[in-house]
Amino acid sequence: MESPFKPDVVRGQVALITGGGSGIGFEISSQFGKHGASIAIMGRRKQVLDDAVSALRSLGIQAIGLEGDVRKQEDARRVVEATFQHFGKIDILVNAAAGNFLAAAEDLSPNGFRTVLDIDAVGTFNMCHAALKYLKKGAPGRDSSSGGGSIINISATLHYTASWYQIHVSAAKAAVDATTRNLALEWGTDYDIRVNGIAPGPIGGTPGMSKLVPEEIENKTREYMPLYKVGEKWDIAMAALYLSCDSGKYVSGLTMVVDGGLWLSKPRH
Ligand code: HXC
Repeated sequence: MESPFKPDVVRGQVALITGGGSGIGFEISSQFGKHGASIAIMGRRKQVLDDAVSALRSLGIQAIGLEGDVRKQEDARRVVEATFQHFGKIDILVNAAAGNFLAAAEDLSPNGFRTVLDIDAVGTFNMCHAALKYLKKGAPGRDSSSGGGSIINISATLHYTASWYQIHVSAAKAAVDATTRNLALEWGTDYDIRVNGIAPGPIGGTPGMSKLVPEEIENKTREYMPLYKVGEKWDIAMAALYLSCDSGKYVSGLTMVVDGGLWLSKPRH
């Protein structure tokens, strides 16, 4: 689908996107690139990164891939530094890396619980913490008149109530949302950085969808959730663009739900 944004809305900006090699992260990478940004993608799998970078470059987008695990502070620091060394600044950080699987709470090992919190919640904080010095107003390479940079954390809606077999993800995304709000307060005040989140609904063609919503569950879901519709990765990328460019300049601390209203869905009777 054609973008409603002008093709230069993030021109000249540098975006670092964790989990940017696949799924929602890759769509955000390519839409940011198509709208003028240079892209650094971070991920654990070299082949996924290489394929993603080739795909971005074939669209004429300046892109690099950086291997790393957001759970490791030293990887977070190294990837942030490498992004700065390559592009000379960082304007936007998108935390899209996530871990997930379905597991009943009684079958989930404490290490399984911790692993997902480490990837989603600790990983998000590690990246924000490492990138802070480059996102501050007046940071190296940044235009001093343009204020601070911006952060987008990819979240979910499943913790607004409760979700079967996703206690680990619910806890992790609740922490991500709290991180979004607290950083918006502290770093908005001190450094003019805007921090927002996006909470996607079920998005077609993503690892999350194929792992978490097997087809037989999806069919049943449509019966008791009248607002159930599958979204597109594009919907999330457009929300990310809105929040990152000037259209979102007065928006901070928000986690924008992009799910067609699904989280409000309930049976008619
Ligand atoms: C139960 C599991 C498990 C599973 C891992 N564990 N997979 N437990 N069921 N399917 C447990 C392991 O037994 C182990 O605990 C602990 O988790 C760590 O497992 P490892 O395999 O050693 O960890 P690691 O290699 O780091 O992989 C973690 C991972 C991750 C979470 C499985 O690789 C992953 O999810 N990758 C896929 C990324 C992905 O799908 N992203 C899309 C996310 S979608 P023990 O006790 O045995 O040591 C998304 C949407 C959210 O986030 C919103 C939905 C609405």
